[in-house]
Amino acid sequence: MDELQKKIDSLDRNRIPVHVAMIMDGNGRWAQKKGFARSEGHAEGISTVHRVTKLSSDLGVKYLTLYAFSTENWNRPPEEVATLMYLIGWAIERELPELLRNNVRIHLLGDIDRIPQEARERLFYAREATAHCTGLQLNMCLSYSSRWEITEAARVLARKAAAGEIDPESISEEVFASSLTTAGIPDPDLLIRTGGEERISNYLLWQIAYSELYFTPVLWPDFSDAEYVDAIIDYQNRERRYGKTSEQVRNNE
Ligand code: FPP
Repeated sequence: MDELQKKIDSLDRNRIPVHVAMIMDGNGRWAQKKGFARSEGHAEGISTVHRVTKLSSDLGVKYLTLYAFSTENWNRPPEEVATLMYLIGWAIERELPELLRNNVRIHLLGDIDRIPQEARERLFYAREATAHCTGLQLNMCLSYSSRWEITEAARVLARKAAAGEIDPESISEEVFASSLTTAGIPDPDLLIRTGGEERISNYLLWQIAYSELYFTPVLWPDFSDAEYVDAIIDYQNRERRYGKTSEQVRNNE
């Protein structure tokens, strides 16, 4: 039996994270280290997206959320932005048959109207084509940032309150959460960031209030299946207390 299979077999199948979110960092450095253009790193990063999607699906993860392009990424050199947009559209089209085979449903989070038309149409097509799928939900964050999302939600609620449609007093955490782009999606259990930086970079700030955070120095194109399983093993060894004491958690209070 190979090493990866041994690791997979050691997982507690009853405690697979329901929702895994990922910050796919390190593509540019991976390419630069090899003397390639940064875009080569993004292209290679797509292979990792393919693998983590398949493994998530095989392990029974229900939601996988990927930070594919942030609001701040629009400030990168225009050629890099164009390459990324091209790659995203190309990858979603190429991957569609495999996504359908694996019963994966595409969901888009972010200011999708800003995505160039060609890529946007391919994304919408994939979303529609996979709408009936009942397996893993793959949330792709595109032109996404958490502060953008929270500001949008605040604006929507303020408008409703001003129009007398809702009572400001009725705005609870649940109401607020249901105004975010992630409405209906459970909060991430595990957030993985590759590439060595230990920060959140405007990602799912509301939703990760109680997520377990896992940082690895491995660059995204090198993030292997074994490393993904290591992250889940690490997650399974943590005690999620949600503000309670260890004793309360053990007694299931
Ligand atoms: C960060 O690496 C990565 C990105 C900004 C883009 C990630 C996008 C992909 C892997 C393609 C996604 C495609 C689909 C279909 C989901 P970086 O460029 O910031 O790396 P660096 O920190 O080494 O410079």
